[in-house]
Amino acid sequence: MNLFVANWKMHMTRAEARAFAVELSRIVPPGGGGREIVIAPPFTALDALGDAEGRWRIGAQNVAADAKGAFTGEVCAKMLAELGCRYVIVGHSERRRLFNEGGATLVRKLERCREENLIPIYCVGETESERDDGVGNQILTDQAATLAGDPPDAPLVVAYEPVWAIGTGRAASPGDAAAARTLLAKLLSARRDLRILYGGSVTAGNCREMLEAAGMDGFLVGGASLDPKGFAAIAGFGNM
Ligand code: 13P
Repeated sequence: MNLFVANWKMHMTRAEARAFAVELSRIVPPGGGGREIVIAPPFTALDALGDAEGRWRIGAQNVAADAKGAFTGEVCAKMLAELGCRYVIVGHSERRRLFNEGGATLVRKLERCREENLIPIYCVGETESERDDGVGNQILTDQAATLAGDPPDAPLVVAYEPVWAIGTGRAASPGDAAAARTLLAKLLSARRDLRILYGGSVTAGNCREMLEAAGMDGFLVGGASLDPKGFAAIAGFGNM
């Protein structure tokens, strides 16, 4: 089933999140209408967003690398599971770049997710200079290698998010996305339950082509996910 994930980043108060949920529930039918929709708000809005009629699930944008303990400001996997989270975004480029999260930390975060049956949405993607230097595929290969110890039977979502496409209005071409998808599918061919998403300047205008031409299983959406109508349109509801 195609998967559409809203990554709100550091946007939306609880009141704004509730208003979003009311709007979205007018568009998306109970049960989700044959797609899987996930909203990943800031931690503070997670419990304001549950939908009793199964239109969407909630996910977290981050998780602590430790299971519990003296880690001021961190939120652990068990706490997220208790709130009803199903997914956790791991390895987003903003966390890799701005918070210095590398492979060793991400391996631990993946392990914490699995301990609580949370499904990681593991992000990979090259920077613009890496792409220009022709090492994009190597970067994806290295980042995918972080998943080597993750159990191959467990469901996994991988999001290809080229860093140069995030928040820039310059989405990857369907051809480039398809090439990344093919590489990732090959690298992760041992996985029994894998979905590959695209993320980076996804809009209601460019998303169909990406699903059809690039064969993506859905999207990880930043800016355009802050508007319920726009996000619903990306998930295939309402006017495109
Ligand atoms: P934008 O959709 O705003 O480019 O962000 C993409 C992203 O980082 C989703 O995780």
